[in-house]
Amino acid sequence: MIAENISLASYNTFGIHVSARYFATFDSVSKAEELIAHPLMRKQSLLVLGGGSNILFTRNYEGVVLKNNITGIELSAEDEKHYYVKAGAGENWHEFVLHCIKNGYAGVENLSLIPGNVGASPMQNIGAYGVEIKDVFHELEALHIPTGEIHRFGTKECNFGYRESVFKRQYKNQYIILSVSYKLNKQATLQTSYGAIEQELDSMGVSSPGIKEVSDAVIRIRSSKLPNPAEIGNAGSFFKNPIVTKEHASALLETHPDLVHYPATRGMVKLAAGWLIEKAGWKGYTRANHGVHKSQALVLVNYGGATGHEILLLSEEIVTDVQNKFGVELEREVNIF
Ligand code: EPU
Repeated sequence: MIAENISLASYNTFGIHVSARYFATFDSVSKAEELIAHPLMRKQSLLVLGGGSNILFTRNYEGVVLKNNITGIELSAEDEKHYYVKAGAGENWHEFVLHCIKNGYAGVENLSLIPGNVGASPMQNIGAYGVEIKDVFHELEALHIPTGEIHRFGTKECNFGYRESVFKRQYKNQYIILSVSYKLNKQATLQTSYGAIEQELDSMGVSSPGIKEVSDAVIRIRSSKLPNPAEIGNAGSFFKNPIVTKEHASALLETHPDLVHYPATRGMVKLAAGWLIEKAGWKGYTRANHGVHKSQALVLVNYGGATGHEILLLSEEIVTDVQNKFGVELEREVNIF
């Protein structure tokens, strides 16, 4: 049941060739419970993998890697306005979105084509085109590794932030997310205000879109800008969009009037990391077999055979350069192991 020295190359979308000292998969709650009760778990560090789409391995993993393959999607309840839909954490995220669209469950259409699995959606509060998972999240069930108990988390307990939740912070590596329930709408409230979506709908000749058309527009935008991990290794945005003070943003605007910026909470200003990296001259930069994507500077790519260490070094050079040029500190979005 627990295999040894298994290659993780096909389990991380960066396509980094490392191996796991121990490796096991589980496709049910009872199998997950059995695995965490195994004596090895007390001696070894543990890493739970979903789709492997937000991770950069810089070395072989010397502990136990558990791959979550729990699938299944069910309509668990409905009320006048909502469908409550529960999905296994190992379900592919985009397949889940397509299922929702086919059945008329509204709310996740803007999140089409995000790589990864359902379990990662609350973990890092995935977001795109003006929507975040916290907007449609209902609750989740997670296995507490130290005690073997199953705990439920509502929105409040998850403490969602921008690409953040308790599972990335204080409960890091303590839980295996088993299933996630979403509260989806019967009546769609479309979010098309994010510039590119309206333009794309126009170019598709759609004047009164529904969730299917919005999803199609998002798929077209993402496919044109973001590399497909099946073709070029990557983990989506490598960095978060930084949040700076209003004074800092105003000072930057004086020297860079085209600075891309958005209002953030508490009077702060969010900057587009992709813009900063591009202006610093890194967009499309290639070194040996890795580099910065040519259409979206926030995405680092492995053209094949790069090591995680090389990609990490490149990312550190970018951080230093952006800091020197703009006085802005970029924070990584991707988890490093
Ligand atoms: N921009 C540039 N140069 C670049 C990239 C972007 O100037 O190389 C500018 C764009 O022109 C635009 C602005 O930056 O004005 C924002 O770009 P974009 O719409 O591509 O989105 P982003 O802020 O770079 C975020 C998310 C993405 C998500 C998109 C769309 C983060 C870290 N990233 O990127 O999420 O798909 O918005 O909503 O918040 C991910 O998390 O892995 C991810 C891909």
